[in-house]
Amino acid sequence: MNRHAPNLKAERIAGGVHSDVRHDSAHKHVAGEAVYIDDMPEPAGTLHAGLGLSTVAHGFVTSLDLSAVRAAPGVVAVLTAKDVPGVNDISPSGMNDDPVLADGKVEFHGQPLFCVIARTRDQARRAARLAKVEYEEQPALIDIWDLDPATARQVTTPLTLKRGDAASALDAAPRRVTGRMRLGGQDHFYLEGQVSLAVPGEDDEVTVYCSTQGPSETQHMIAHALGIASHAVTVEVRRMGGGFGGKETQANQCAAIAAIAAKKLGRAVKLRLDRDEDMTATGKRHDFAIDYDIGFDEEGRILAVDYTFGLRAGFSADLSGPVGDRALFHCDNAYFFPHVLAKSAPLYTNTVSNTAFRGFGGPQGMVGAERVIDEVAFAVGKDPLDIRKLNFYDEMGTEGTRNLTPYHQKVEDCIIQRIVAELEESADYAGRRREIAAFNANSRFVKRGLALTPVKFGISFTKTESNQAGALVHVYTDGSVHMNHGGTEMGQGLHLKVAQVVAEEFQIDLDRVRITATTTAKVPNTSPTAASSGADLNGMAAQDAARQIRKRLTDFAAEHYEVPREQVVFLPNRVRVGNQEIAFNELVRQAYMARVQLSAAGFYKTPKIHWDRSKGRGHAFYYYAYGAACAEVSVDTLTGEYVVERVDILHDVGRSLNPAIDLGQVEGGFIQGMGWLTTEELVWDERGRLRTHAPSTYKIPLASDRPKIFNVALTDWSSAYEPTIHRSKAVGEPPLPLGLAVLHALSDAVASVAGHVVCPRLDAPATPERVLMAIERLKAEAAAPASPSAR
Ligand code: MTE
Ligand code: MOS
Repeated sequence: MNRHAPNLKAERIAGGVHSDVRHDSAHKHVAGEAVYIDDMPEPAGTLHAGLGLSTVAHGFVTSLDLSAVRAAPGVVAVLTAKDVPGVNDISPSGMNDDPVLADGKVEFHGQPLFCVIARTRDQARRAARLAKVEYEEQPALIDIWDLDPATARQVTTPLTLKRGDAASALDAAPRRVTGRMRLGGQDHFYLEGQVSLAVPGEDDEVTVYCSTQGPSETQHMIAHALGIASHAVTVEVRRMGGGFGGKETQANQCAAIAAIAAKKLGRAVKLRLDRDEDMTATGKRHDFAIDYDIGFDEEGRILAVDYTFGLRAGFSADLSGPVGDRALFHCDNAYFFPHVLAKSAPLYTNTVSNTAFRGFGGPQGMVGAERVIDEVAFAVGKDPLDIRKLNFYDEMGTEGTRNLTPYHQKVEDCIIQRIVAELEESADYAGRRREIAAFNANSRFVKRGLALTPVKFGISFTKTESNQAGALVHVYTDGSVHMNHGGTEMGQGLHLKVAQVVAEEFQIDLDRVRITATTTAKVPNTSPTAASSGADLNGMAAQDAARQIRKRLTDFAAEHYEVPREQVVFLPNRVRVGNQEIAFNELVRQAYMARVQLSAAGFYKTPKIHWDRSKGRGHAFYYYAYGAACAEVSVDTLTGEYVVERVDILHDVGRSLNPAIDLGQVEGGFIQGMGWLTTEELVWDERGRLRTHAPSTYKIPLASDRPKIFNVALTDWSSAYEPTIHRSKAVGEPPLPLGLAVLHALSDAVASVAGHVVCPRLDAPATPERVLMAIERLKAEAAAPASPSAR
């Protein structure tokens, strides 16, 4: 936009809110110039750490002979649990079940047991393999599929949500279906793996550069493990090469180990996991076993649902409690269930402790909801889209009765009807439905499938205290601005969005605002950047800080130039004071000369929300984000291989802070969700060894897996229902479950081999093998009339 245009109304600063600005580091990412922790210049004498991992899934260590490790070339020290000076625990849940280094007992294959410090990383890694460890093995629980959630060991207290009387409503329902679904986990596959560089300081001080989503928590964990106060520990992160939830708690272990080694040796120590170690030793998305019992009528209206969501927690609680909770919070997706009972079961297993992953259990809950839709649709013989529309929550502005969630929050902002209607139109759902039917009728082996699935995603941390944020803004005497806040950058564009907010507040061009690294020394006690709320929380906190300074500038100008405050108006890059215009920089200089404070700390806490876990009731979410995706696939029914032909997406971000960034989030989220539900398969063997610990065996989507036609749009009409930052909505996680459209398009294609009368009950990830097995099963069931699915 032309900044020198005479029309003041149209005149805008460069890079304000709601404008398309490319990611501040995009060019540096591409050119290899963005500095990640492993790119930082190493302090003189930096040593490197390597981990020794458990080789059994469950057992007691009877002998730990590290003599060969100590004698290996380049080795400076070897650390075990005994060397942890403070508490040997980094559990985020406070349950004391996450040792920094295993002490006497190992609970999963790949658990860090000791740490080698050597002159080079290669020496440390080679030396680690020379350990002689003997174990007294214990029986290991690997999979959750055969566990009974009612009796199996759980890592933390499960949650129950209840509204109405599901049992009676199920008994009274005209139609009823029960079933079970297996849903796989997911590795984060961030490009930059876990890494920390610890630099010792004076006395007990240590500074840790860590690829973490939660610098404050990392700081507190390091202090806890070192047995020192938090004020001695500084954690800094400029950016992560992806986090996706995998660095919400999982960064703490490397950080604690590096810090302990650095303090012990008085040298800088860096610990960077290689890909195989990272995949083996750090937590992932939870896989689930979902049991459902659905009551509905002949039309396909859902009357009652009873669910159990069993999730593989792994050996410790980590975030499994809240992840299971969020699955229940999304077990309705966008649908009203008149009677519902839903239980979580975070099950103990001898596998790596699972953790946050984009959506944080929400997507798993939605998979349950969409399976319910599929079952009902096949049972009553209707298009699943018709069943979806029939069961939506009441639309915003209508005074209906179908608006209460299973956790008793009233849905007030539902816009899914309009999103689905617009997408149905733009993707020509009805026309393509007919074309696909015709195509399938004439195609013997290749079958096409189509599905349109909605998303409703709740925004807020359910842990109330996490919904707060701080920021620190400095204006220097040349009018340039230094911006800092508690959020972390992992590629999602958070720093850019917050900088846009600050630029808008001061009415200065975006390039006058400097984006800086997140550090615990500037903004304390911050929440991890998670739950998609980074921009909502930190944008508000930074706005608060900027407004304080702006107010002081206004007061100063009014007094200095003797005009009423109303006559001080911030225009792009200048300020009108009475009849004259003063450059922003000049006003700042004058304010400094008059001793006006040009720095401010800002703060924000989300209003309205509350949540009582023991009662299963509350206003858990400030608002909801909505979206929908329509996917078309073609499946080779002889091999199970498939191609995603076309995907259309319409997603709601309210009034976007930066549509270019948000579109990227929607595309990336969808692709990541598609990968989770189709090709990304985690396989543990019976001994608890992860067999898929590298890209050779673990298949994330490639550029070539992108839908052949990919139309992605943001709603241009929506505005947040609540007064969020510039009426934008969170965008980080909600698009991930848009990938469900692909799973359901595959289900539709599979169903076509048996005349669409049997629900394919396609488990996820729907790898070509699973698709082929579903096809074979459906053909067999269709041939045998008394099949189990024919109800
Ligand atoms: N986008 C990129 N490029 N890289 C990431 O690691 N993490 C996702 C999402 N989008 C992620 C991402 C996750 S899990 C969350 S919770 C949000 O970004 C966090 O950032 P926000 O709150 O600023 O949206
Ligand atoms: Mo995102 S899973 O909340 O880090």
